[in-house]
Amino acid sequence: MRRKIVAGNWKLNTTLTEGMDLARSVIDLLKKGGGGNVSVIIAPPFTHLTEIKKIIGDEIGLAAQNCAAEKSGAFTGEVSAEMIRSAGAGYVITGHSERRHYFNESDKDVASKVRNAIESGLQPLFCCGEKLHERERSIYTEVIKKQIQLGLFDLPKDDFSKVIIAYEPVWAIGTGKNATPEQAQEIHQYIRHLVEEKYDRNVANNLTILYGGSCKPSNAGELFSNNDIDGGLIGGASLSAEDFYSIINSF
Ligand code: 13P
Repeated sequence: MRRKIVAGNWKLNTTLTEGMDLARSVIDLLKKGGGGNVSVIIAPPFTHLTEIKKIIGDEIGLAAQNCAAEKSGAFTGEVSAEMIRSAGAGYVITGHSERRHYFNESDKDVASKVRNAIESGLQPLFCCGEKLHERERSIYTEVIKKQIQLGLFDLPKDDFSKVIIAYEPVWAIGTGKNATPEQAQEIHQYIRHLVEEKYDRNVANNLTILYGGSCKPSNAGELFSNNDIDGGLIGGASLSAEDFYSIINSF
């Protein structure tokens, strides 16, 4: 059985104190009940990882938002997968569209990050998704296929089994305009099909595929009720503990 996951990507938000308060609020809400069979993950900024780990323990998962494509050395300002693991995280987001587009990350960079993550014992939360003009020109499946092939398909089966995929159409991120459940389901099913072709049916069936892009309490239930949508990668709405909790309870 594949895991249901709701993950919060805090992006460039919260001071350390604000982040610790937010993590405490999420934990407090979860203690009240709910969230039964859902794995919850939060991805605060690097600077918060160690302190937040002390707050959340093993009750919820901890992710970094990025890691270096290199393992170590003279790369000022970079943070390696091994460093992230040593700070107590179990996951790392790789290939987020904001990294691909604002920081010019190539598919090759993303593939190195995924490899480093797995070698360091982290589970990669690999993001893919098309831009608006690619959707309008109906070339979105090709775009996603290429991102997945170049970012993930060099992995042997055992390593691929550690990957979580998030489909995040760029036009839906932070815009308030989510993909419709039909649009998201179409792509999630397509991704599962690609994985079955490359590996096998068992690997495809066990793969968790999250939807991201303006997912909020009002649309999460409808999105998560689709067969191939196993949860969400939440940006803006994860900065409110109540909204995030409500999304966790939307299955
Ligand atoms: P929003 O939920 O703010 O649209 O962001 C989605 C996202 O990019 C999560 O990684």
